[in-house]
Amino acid sequence: MRTLLVANAKGGSGKTTLATHAAGWFASRRQRVALQDEDTQRSGSSWLARRPILFPKIEALKPGTSRKEAREQGIAWRIIDSPAGLHGERLRDLVKQADHLLVPLSPSAFDMEATQAFLDAVTEYKAVREQKLAVALVAMRFDARTRSAQELDEFLYGFEFPLIAHLRETQVYIRCARDGLTLFDLPPSRGKQDWEQWLPITAWLIKQGV
Ligand SMILES: Nc1ncnc2c1ncn2[C@@H]1O[C@H](COP(=O)(O)OP(=O)(O)OP(=O)(O)O)[C@@H](O)[C@H]1O
Ligand SMILES: [Mg+2]
Repeated sequence: MRTLLVANAKGGSGKTTLATHAAGWFASRRQRVALQDEDTQRSGSSWLARRPILFPKIEALKPGTSRKEAREQGIAWRIIDSPAGLHGERLRDLVKQADHLLVPLSPSAFDMEATQAFLDAVTEYKAVREQKLAVALVAMRFDARTRSAQELDEFLYGFEFPLIAHLRETQVYIRCARDGLTLFDLPPSRGKQDWEQWLPITAWLIKQGV
């Protein structure tokens, strides 16, 4: 079993969107996948409760479920959605449980500053220093034509963690959030353009999972 933690202390950076979609992608590949919602706001769990029964199954794990418990349930991929403001012991505990960490960030000065502080904290952890935990960034709500997109590139230049994907800003994510769906549940006519943007993320997850 592999555990993907989706985290960034910055609120609204796109954690739940990334976590639910990662879960949806594994489900669409018929893998046993579970979402563990560690956020008391419960956005991830209420999204899962809205998920129509006929779509590929995503299981739910209670907050606090350990790696061992998840493994015993036969889960292949555990996706942990985490709360805004995550730091200190709680962050350390969740990082300890994870094999992969994806950090979403939006191209705004506020997000970049907060993300920098978050990554500085993460870099201190032994698992990260010893490269037992794979860490990557994903740009959310990205519009390549904007000045802030350029600033994001400058911010990330020389950074030690790779930026592996840019996801565009689109109402499709907002509608999926409302309906308990992901892009991977949509027909090609509605999903294809965005599926392509996910390819580097899913490739990264699989590669790190070997
Ligand atoms: N690529 C995108 N295009 C359009 N809207 C997006 C995109 N990514 C995220 N959003 C929207 O931005 C909002 C914040 O995203 P999300 O809830 O995933 O962030 P979060 O980090 O989980 O927030 P919180 O810190 O409150 O848990 C949501 O309304 C979501 O639907
Ligand atoms: Mg969230």
